[in-house]
Amino acid sequence: MAKLGSRLNGIQEAEGSSPSGSTRTIEKGAGETPFVHDEGGLPYQEEMMQTRSEAYHDHEAPAYDAKYDASPFFKQVYEVVTWDNIRRFLPPLPARILDAGGGTGRWTVKLAAQGYDLTLTDISQGMLDVARTKVEAQGLAGRVTILRQDIRRMNDLAAESFDLVLAEGDPVSYCEDPGAAIRELARVARSGAHVIVSVDSRSMAVAFISQLDLDGAEELLRTGQMRWRDENEAFTYPIHAFTVPELSNLFESNGLRVVRVLGKSVFFGCLPPEVRNTILNDQELTRRVVELECRYADDPGWAGSGGHLEVTGVKTW
Ligand SMILES: C[S@@+](CC[C@H](N)C(=O)[O-])C[C@H]1O[C@@H](n2cnc3c(N)ncnc32)[C@H](O)[C@@H]1O
Repeated sequence: MAKLGSRLNGIQEAEGSSPSGSTRTIEKGAGETPFVHDEGGLPYQEEMMQTRSEAYHDHEAPAYDAKYDASPFFKQVYEVVTWDNIRRFLPPLPARILDAGGGTGRWTVKLAAQGYDLTLTDISQGMLDVARTKVEAQGLAGRVTILRQDIRRMNDLAAESFDLVLAEGDPVSYCEDPGAAIRELARVARSGAHVIVSVDSRSMAVAFISQLDLDGAEELLRTGQMRWRDENEAFTYPIHAFTVPELSNLFESNGLRVVRVLGKSVFFGCLPPEVRNTILNDQELTRRVVELECRYADDPGWAGSGGHLEVTGVKTW
């Protein structure tokens, strides 16, 4: 199987998926194992690969925040553009927010500090343990409930119980059944609440083309399937990368009317590494490019070109 190396790691760095990016690569992966289709028509792998994603995140958890925080792209671009989208849809206080697949609590801590009541869920106990330490250190424990839940079956969460629902940073791409995940996110949202989901984008196929792996590009473009590959096989897990219509249709078929589709990031991802570095080393240049991202990355002509997609919908039922 073809492996994507340094070029793709460069893209991961640029797009914030793997700021450390040193040992992990992405492989095409759809053709190797049988795929089934859920009700929404999306392919996922039936084998127990989910535990590999969980194992990977348990293993990564202690170093996870430090890696992302050390990435200038992640801190100065990806996180700022993400927050710019979330803040547009914040409900008035007091309100309950679900941070599903919330990992080490990056968004939970920020939102709880603003006075919201947070429920943080994740499949990885390791990630949740890190989150709990942070929440307690900041004196926010009274405002945060932490639960180990699979995003595909959030059995401990009642229907219609959140005023805003987040699934940031790819849990829907990693969970192996995106249709079930979106159904669950829609179920627990109150009528009229916003649901914000960010996923990997199928524009990652560019990385395969840049490696002259045209079979890999074709397979990813056709199926949406790829996989994170770690040096340790036990941590290799499948990922579903979306097109804009695919994720939008999944929202709409679950009664979530799409109100904004954002590419993250659309301009930085097009730039040669040396230009990106020049921008990231200059505060004013970074501020101006990020402002362009926030203003124009939701243009339908740009949104699908980002390494990540962020779709926001409003529950209509
Ligand atoms: C890249 S991290 C993002 C964490 C956090 N949302 C953020 O933005 O910082 C992806 C998270 O998805 C979680 N995840 C993967 N599969 C999941 C599943 N089936 N159910 C819940 N969480 C899952 C992982 O454990 C991990 O914490």
